[in-house]
Amino acid sequence: MYKEQLTTDRLPEHVAIIMDGNGRWAKKQGLARVFGHQKGVETVHEITTAAAELGLKYLTLYTFSTENWNRPKEEVDAIMTLLVDTIAKERPTLMKNNVRLLTIGDTNRLPDEARKKYLQLIDDTAGNTGLSLVLALSYSSRWEITEAMKRIAHKVESGEMKADDITEQTLTDNMTTACIPDPDLLIRTSGEYRISNFLLWQLAYSEMYFTDCYWPEFTREEFYKALVDYAQRERRFGKTSEQIQK
Ligand code: FPP
Repeated sequence: MYKEQLTTDRLPEHVAIIMDGNGRWAKKQGLARVFGHQKGVETVHEITTAAAELGLKYLTLYTFSTENWNRPKEEVDAIMTLLVDTIAKERPTLMKNNVRLLTIGDTNRLPDEARKKYLQLIDDTAGNTGLSLVLALSYSSRWEITEAMKRIAHKVESGEMKADDITEQTLTDNMTTACIPDPDLLIRTSGEYRISNFLLWQLAYSEMYFTDCYWPEFTREEFYKALVDYAQRERRFGKTSEQIQK
């Protein structure tokens, strides 16, 4: 059992997950892709609850990318319906577990009903002080970086700041993740080894963990296994091992 091997002082503060493999999981069962997404929502529930119980501070889930808008209309509609249903169903769980919901991405692109309910739930959970669950929805990192660059360029254009005053912190402060620390650990399911336009700026020093499990079969035990693996790593941030151990 991996949970027993976890010690609180080696837990990451922020875990980001690329939830991949819903479609392939469904296909393997001879089911339509939408069933994979439905099962995927159950995994979201399990992993969020596990993260809250462990006392993690941030869990960021890549829920729907900018590129996912190009999927067949039926699939996009099904995911949006699932989002609305999940918001209604999960509200009590979020409240009970003291979870604060945050969003990164272009919510303007969401259908009206989904956007209203989603933003309302974010508002309703704003006072919760436990885990922050960050949904990356209609998100892509290149979109985010482009938007940040535009905001900074406007400030330079209006004379609010000088081009030479731009630092790494300026970019960090203009990302949608401005109030969120960088992920310590990135998990990707389904045996793919890609970042897929996710948090390119923020993952600079994150540890990476890849598993062959499809997202619908990613259990709490698999999650604990990833955390145990993380706990055994030495994070050097560009320094030498000797410098870290001092
Ligand atoms: C990846 O599987 C999953 C997605 C693109 C969507 C993720 C959506 C959910 C888990 C459901 C919605 C979540 C919430 C919180 C309401 P894939 O379809 O890319 O799988 P494949 O690579 O096997 O085709």
